[in-house]
Amino acid sequence: MRVAVFSTKSHDREYLTVANDGSHEMDFLESRLNEETAPLAAGAPAVCIFVNDVASAEVLGQLADAGTRLLALRSAGFNHVDIEAANELGLTVVRVPAYSPNAVAEFTVGMILALDRKYHRAHSRVREGNFSLEGLLGFDLHTRTVGIVGTGKIGQLVARILSGFGCRIIAHDPYPNDQTRELGVEYMDLHQLLGEADIITLHTPLTPETHHLISQSSLRHVKPGAMLINTSRGALVDTEAVIDALKDGRLGSLGLDVYEEEADLFFEDLSNQVIADDVFSRLLTFPNVLVTGHQAFFTHDALTQIAETTVTNIKLFEEGRASGNEIDVQAVSG
Ligand code: NAI
Repeated sequence: MRVAVFSTKSHDREYLTVANDGSHEMDFLESRLNEETAPLAAGAPAVCIFVNDVASAEVLGQLADAGTRLLALRSAGFNHVDIEAANELGLTVVRVPAYSPNAVAEFTVGMILALDRKYHRAHSRVREGNFSLEGLLGFDLHTRTVGIVGTGKIGQLVARILSGFGCRIIAHDPYPNDQTRELGVEYMDLHQLLGEADIITLHTPLTPETHHLISQSSLRHVKPGAMLINTSRGALVDTEAVIDALKDGRLGSLGLDVYEEEADLFFEDLSNQVIADDVFSRLLTFPNVLVTGHQAFFTHDALTQIAETTVTNIKLFEEGRASGNEIDVQAVSG
């Protein structure tokens, strides 16, 4: 089956080629999928996309009209796909529901440590011959309270790792689970969590309910000086609201691996260009903010699983069989 692979980077080509082992005709395209680039997939029964590709009703309509029947996501999150439109158009959408949640959980804990103990600032300083400790003061994680918002696969792993540091773990999730409770985690409502946590870390999908979960109004409940970490999806956080909270000290530090307007920035080398996004640029001016470009998933293990599951999803679709990784409107609403 011909597969048009959008947003191809060298690692996508490398891992998909190994997993594919010649089974499908992979057409690797560097372009991001959008209304202008959709015609590149003309005639391809399968289209494979990543997190910043645009799969709106308009784009999906174009793909379906040109013969596409399968949309294979190389991601777990599917907030960038109009699932209702896909269902109406008869397009099957498959995803990679779990690929090394460890990769994201471990990165999250690394980000907490880096922000707390300022590894990134120390590294730059030492390279300049500056060995002053001024401004590098951190705090012990031991006995600190960590608030985990969303205790699915990744949130649970973060809870497990941080339990080992001797942290008190509290959580908020509309669907609490026993595995998390067994770790000694106490569930509570979001506002109580925000008021008690020294570190807040977000691990929920982006849905209409979780859009701007961290906003001007929810930030009023945050314990003064708390650290906020978002390695899930950018739009869980109202960026302008967190900038205000950093300016007046309500937030003590901020770690972001995702950004609500990241589609125009991340995954590209823009080092020779002027960044036009003033909100993003403002974020980079704070000494207590650490931003990475959506790399929490980026491990050998995760890329192997993404590629293998994607190839299997396509193979089973071609054979008329379900993989169990299909997303339909019910999955979106429930
Ligand atoms: P999951 O589906 O296993 O867990 C999500 C949890 O969030 C569930 O327990 C669900 O009940 C909970 N939840 C839903 N609505 C909520 C709300 N309003 N408040 C609190 N909790 C809520 O998902 P998983 O695998 O743990 O991934 C979480 C997110 O991480 C994904 O949706 C994705 O956006 C993000 N992610 C980011 C990556 C990166 O590279 N930065 C890579 C992979 C995933």
